[in-house]
Amino acid sequence: MADHLIIFDTTLRDGEQSPGASMTKDEKMRIAKQLERLRVDVIEAGFPASSNGDWEAVHAIAGAIKDSTVCGLARANEKDIERCGEAIRPAKSGRVHTFIATSPIHMQMKLRMTPDAVFDQAVKSVRLARAYTDDVEFSPEDAGRSEPDFLCRLLEAVIAAGATTVNIPDTVGYTVPWQFGALIASLRERVPNSDKAIWSVHCHNDLGLAVANSLASVMHGARQVECTINGLGERAGNASLEEIVMAVKTRKDVFPCTTRIDTTQILAASKLVSGITGFPVQPNKAIVGANAFAHESGIHQDGVLKHRETYEIMRAEDVGWNANKLSLGKLSGRNAFKTKLAELGIDLGSDEAVNHAFVKFKELADKKGQVFDEDLQALVSDETLTPEQEHFRLISLKVVSETGATPNARVAMAAGDAQLHAETSGDGPVDAVFKAIERMAPSNAKLLLFSVNAITTGTDAQGEVTVRLERGGRIVNGNGADTDIIVASAKAYLNALNKLHGKQERLNPQLAA
Ligand code: KIV
Ligand code: ZN
Repeated sequence: MADHLIIFDTTLRDGEQSPGASMTKDEKMRIAKQLERLRVDVIEAGFPASSNGDWEAVHAIAGAIKDSTVCGLARANEKDIERCGEAIRPAKSGRVHTFIATSPIHMQMKLRMTPDAVFDQAVKSVRLARAYTDDVEFSPEDAGRSEPDFLCRLLEAVIAAGATTVNIPDTVGYTVPWQFGALIASLRERVPNSDKAIWSVHCHNDLGLAVANSLASVMHGARQVECTINGLGERAGNASLEEIVMAVKTRKDVFPCTTRIDTTQILAASKLVSGITGFPVQPNKAIVGANAFAHESGIHQDGVLKHRETYEIMRAEDVGWNANKLSLGKLSGRNAFKTKLAELGIDLGSDEAVNHAFVKFKELADKKGQVFDEDLQALVSDETLTPEQEHFRLISLKVVSETGATPNARVAMAAGDAQLHAETSGDGPVDAVFKAIERMAPSNAKLLLFSVNAITTGTDAQGEVTVRLERGGRIVNGNGADTDIIVASAKAYLNALNKLHGKQERLNPQLAA
């Protein structure tokens, strides 16, 4: 029988370390629920000692998730492990993941610690973590550039101290597949008690090798892979979950293991993460890119029509693509709407949120006639669904834009109970709208990103706008969708302002790593 490959998702921790990808507690919860539907084995929900917000997010996720282990990250010190242990306490199955750097460069230049001090600290930390849970993971950070002899000595000691998983990170994405695979093989062979722990890998993508390195290590006995949705993560990101999972599933003739992932949930997870973080997925991205299953050349189309497997190694529907099926229309009722949400794996949490989303759906159906699954996903990915959560709301806007003339915008919006109006001109219609909003609700935030994507095809498609604002080191993403991209832009800007406004605590995922 094939071994089980544990899928450890770190979108909410390493993924959140991508500059600009910080998430609110509610956003993290929505992603955690989708990861549970995806049936990932372990969700690394955050780094509890990094901020109160992250502690709360990990604690809330630990309380809500029943079918995946919830893990928190902790540096190898008492305070971090204590915070992490407390945060995961409500979990049905909770894990503490503690780490310390082991490469000469990190020990000397960053930690300014001797190898012996690092050794003692690691062992002490694993013992302490075991006081909170029986499920303890240890990572020697920058293992890819660490001395193998030191790694062997340390890994033997942490396993003896109670680590149940030892994770080998290629922190800076420096290794190449045959070298990383050989490292895993040799560590497993040389560490005397290696059979007492699960061997895991955590690869970064600086050389574009994260997935290849992870898969090479699976061939040498790694039975946990750490990865993220869309390959999100520090710098060039982590190994992409969808690529790892589909490689193992598609090439079961090669890999000696299987996962328990419900692959039909992959696309929904990808869209959710992309919508929340504002990181678009490139069209040619494997598995989840818009073109991943599109056949353009006549020869390919002809082949696929005659016999699908001529050019397709996976079925699009196996990862959640369903060919833009017509979803609902303006005559659809609340029940059909609720059923469709369930079919798409969307859980809005409360009847109130469903009602509010239903009103938005009706408005959209009136404008657009046909509402596709992608439209619904965009509609609910607007995080501030209940009116109470929306301090700033768009009431109306009028934009005048003409060749050769300066665009002008008149915007009416609500701020709590107050109704405000402003009229301004700008370099373009969107600029004019943003200036009008800033006049009414000055945030003095810096606009870091403005991006527009069409949700479906056709000129009647909704535009989905992402706005990224930064103020005092805090970065928030706002999303808005509408058939009118100027209105979508205003909604996205207000969505970002609502997050800055501060009903929900924002997280600062600064890692020492
Ligand atoms: O890349 C890394 O080394 C990490 C560790 C904390 C596992 O993210
Ligand atoms: Zn990492």
